[in-house]
Amino acid sequence: MNKLIIVNENGPAENKYDISINSNFEGLKKYFIKDGFEKYAKICVVTDSNVAKLYLNEIEKTLSGLNCKIFTHVFDAGEASKNCNTLNKLYEELIINHFDRHDLLIALGGGVVGDLCGYCAATYLRGIDYIQVPTTLLSQVDSSVGGKTAIDFMQYKNMVGAFYMPKLVYINVNVLKTLDDEQFSCGMGEVIKHGLIRDKEYYDYIVAHKEDIALKRPESLIELIYGSLAIKSQVVQIDPKEKGIRAYLNFGHTVGHAIEKLSDYKLYHGQCVAIGMMAALYLSKRMGYVDEQDIEKAAAIMRFFDLHTSVDKSMMDENAILQATKSDKKMDNNRIRFVILKDIGEAAVTLDVTDEMLLDAIRYIIKA
Ligand SMILES: NC(=O)c1ccc[n+]([C@@H]2O[C@H](COP(=O)([O-])OP(=O)(O)OC[C@H]3O[C@@H](n4cnc5c(N)ncnc54)[C@H](O)[C@@H]3O)[C@@H](O)[C@H]2O)c1
Repeated sequence: MNKLIIVNENGPAENKYDISINSNFEGLKKYFIKDGFEKYAKICVVTDSNVAKLYLNEIEKTLSGLNCKIFTHVFDAGEASKNCNTLNKLYEELIINHFDRHDLLIALGGGVVGDLCGYCAATYLRGIDYIQVPTTLLSQVDSSVGGKTAIDFMQYKNMVGAFYMPKLVYINVNVLKTLDDEQFSCGMGEVIKHGLIRDKEYYDYIVAHKEDIALKRPESLIELIYGSLAIKSQVVQIDPKEKGIRAYLNFGHTVGHAIEKLSDYKLYHGQCVAIGMMAALYLSKRMGYVDEQDIEKAAAIMRFFDLHTSVDKSMMDENAILQATKSDKKMDNNRIRFVILKDIGEAAVTLDVTDEMLLDAIRYIIKA
């Protein structure tokens, strides 16, 4: 069983690509035999030190026998590697091995590998082709799709980047079996978010199939990831450069980012977004859109997947969260652009959240 989404099917050819969702790596080879990928003379598989140990051999084996030369480039796993130094080493490897515009990069790994390799592809020789083979749940449902690529600069996250579409996103859901529980939970935060902002039916599917998803049954994971990607790819096609509805994907991120920053990045992004979603749900209720039952259902499904729904008072205080939230870049004439829900499955952007309302929402997610 596998599933396919074609992104930008009716748009310009350079922005069109397949997202192929599978339970193995075998289908990847088929692309190189029949779908125009046979043209590449050289391929560099870029990955991190953890993923290399688990899946690099398998990918090399899958691609063996093709009429092209395979290179590999491995860097240390973790966000700390998403920088100019790692990028420079990758450029160097490509230059030494005479990579040109007829060649291809494959990003095999989580969002760090995908973002760095994608940015390298966007800039090397003013752009060479690349494929995303995402291996974390977060990268499978979020970062591998939409063409956002970036590296961090000093302490600034994603400060240098480009919009650059991959030629293919190839997902093997079975790699999630080796992913640690916390990383899986963080990905589930994004998945739940997709349902909440755009598709009530999909959200109800997650709730109804939560046990199978937690057991990582391949059929359930394929359905789950397909549903999430259908939402994300539709949103990014309508609004590729974040001028309109792409902002809905920031649901939970305004307060979530503030908490992430104040925790000194000790709390995972996905965990902080889940807490941020609870604050946004509280505001949605206060503005008269959703009810207490909706909030309780959301909290229950987040807790089921080990996501936090509150932050400890001992970690940070309400005024610090308020200030950090307001200093975020999503402001419009000194008013916060806040993503709320008009209903489950229906997001909207509002400028009507006052400081007093925001402080109340922050108090709601702080627990003694
Ligand atoms: N481009 C976008 O649109 C976008 C969107 C969201 C997040 N991001 C970026 O994504 C990054 C976070 O991505 P992430 O959460 O995937 O982190 P990550 O890439 O650091 O991966 C998390 C950890 O899991 C390990 N890992 C990966 N796949 C594994 C597997 N199958 N089995 C076992 N271990 C595995 C990695 O080696 C790493 O240690 C951040 O840099 C963030 O800025 C980008």
